[in-house]
Amino acid sequence: MLNEATIAIIKSTVPILKDRGTEITKRFYELLFSSHPELLHIFNHANQKQGKQQAALANAVYAAAAHIDQLPAILPVVKQIAHKHRSLGVKAEHYPIVGQNLLAAIKDVLGDAATDEILQAWADAYGVIASVFIEVEQSMYDQAEGQDGGWEGFRAFVIQKKVKESDVITSFYLVPQDRKPIAGFEPGQYVSVQTKLPDDGYTHIRQYSLSDAPGKPYYRISVKREDAIGSRPAGKVSTALHEKTNEGDVLLLSAPAGDFTLNRDDKRPVVLISGGVGLTPMVSMLNTLVETQPHRPVTFIHSAQNGSVHAMKEHVNRLAQAHPQLSVRYCYAEPNEADQAAGTYHREGYVDADWLKTVIPSTNSSVYFCVPQPFMAVVNSALKACGVADSDLHYEFFGPAASLEQPALQTQP
Ligand SMILES: Cc1cc2nc3c(=O)[nH]c(=O)nc-3n(C[C@H](O)[C@H](O)[C@H](O)COP(=O)(O)OP(=O)(O)OC[C@H]3O[C@@H](n4cnc5c(N)ncnc54)[C@H](O)[C@@H]3O)c2cc1C
Ligand code: HEM
Repeated sequence: MLNEATIAIIKSTVPILKDRGTEITKRFYELLFSSHPELLHIFNHANQKQGKQQAALANAVYAAAAHIDQLPAILPVVKQIAHKHRSLGVKAEHYPIVGQNLLAAIKDVLGDAATDEILQAWADAYGVIASVFIEVEQSMYDQAEGQDGGWEGFRAFVIQKKVKESDVITSFYLVPQDRKPIAGFEPGQYVSVQTKLPDDGYTHIRQYSLSDAPGKPYYRISVKREDAIGSRPAGKVSTALHEKTNEGDVLLLSAPAGDFTLNRDDKRPVVLISGGVGLTPMVSMLNTLVETQPHRPVTFIHSAQNGSVHAMKEHVNRLAQAHPQLSVRYCYAEPNEADQAAGTYHREGYVDADWLKTVIPSTNSSVYFCVPQPFMAVVNSALKACGVADSDLHYEFFGPAASLEQPALQTQP
């Protein structure tokens, strides 16, 4: 445990480090990747280029440091990050590497202001924080490997079936190459897919939510093709999955992970809100709900640009016909002529508080949502404006997680 003098130094220097955060983070990644280029196989290059992820790691260290004398309070956030680390294959031996490079970056940027005393305090604090992560992650590795059908690291899965779900989303049905059982999962969880692309020689790891209910002999992921738009390049892994993989090909998957999961003990109404490809965990939850809680009222709200990019619509409509407890609402930002002729959507425009008030059956509902990143905060505040309690709001980011408001442990710059 840290002594009081060390804790005082840490707390008084956190604001200084945060102020110089961008410089320290930039230097940190330069040092990290030049001394350990092998780590480029696990970090997401697109997130680095866009600065999305860049600050997350270092900021989380500062935020944890600010809570250094009350680390149990931030355990839920540690667990969320640890799920991601476990699914990527971050190991105990990586922590000293990150620690050394973070310390070196702090020293480089702060210069003489980083006294030996300050650097020693930060080395000690990082050691304490790292040991919390390592312990939580070790128990996750043990669980992933030790469970029925579980495994260590990345396991080979064969693409049994590739099914087009919309103009931009395709599902992949994946069965284990070794034909042994596969681990169960909670609806809402994701797998990491590790691919090696011919253009740069690196492995690229991406998360994909499991899009069908658990208990099947396959895992299903449903992937949106991220096309190039203007100066923005096409997404590497999603386009490779769409264009370069075929049925019979092999993908490498780590065991299901993630803390965004359906609470199946809850009997209250449930509202599932998705936008675009954010429907994948919601369809997994929906399929599970109709299979296992046939009397629980479900409201499924999906927003899409228009009908041509609206995936799994027929499947969800079929469920709605068969299950009177399920009510479905579609919101199209720009319905096309075919949509207008068919009249198969319920609202033109975006999800907002006034409309949500008319479709949510009760504010005493559990709400799960996953929408494109720019809309996450909007949907969150709309739900609060409807009167849904904070404790009933559950959400997933399809990128580095960010807090939607006053964070206990901020993960974004
Ligand atoms: C928990 C979780 C669950 C997820 N579930 C799903 C799911 O079910 N289905 C799904 O489709 N996705 C899902 N995702 C997103 C998925 O992991 C990938 O991020 C997504 O497929 C894009 O990966 P990519 O390799 O195709 O794109 P990347 O190559 O990673 O690029 C991502 C974006 O960055 C842009 N970009 C890249 N380089 C630059 C640059 N230099 N300048 C500007 N922009 C740049 C690209 O244009 C692209 O839009 C999930 C993510 C998480 C974290
Ligand atoms: C105490 C130390 C650490 C903290 C506080 C920390 C924090 C974080 C945070 C907040 C995220 C973003 C989580 C999300 O996407 O939702 C993250 C992701 C990640 N972390 Fe860590 N991390 C630490 C150590 C490490 C180590 C030792 C490694 C391995 C070298 C590592 C590798 C990664 C990778 C590869 C990602 C995903 C990056 C991406 O998608 O671009 N982290 N970490």
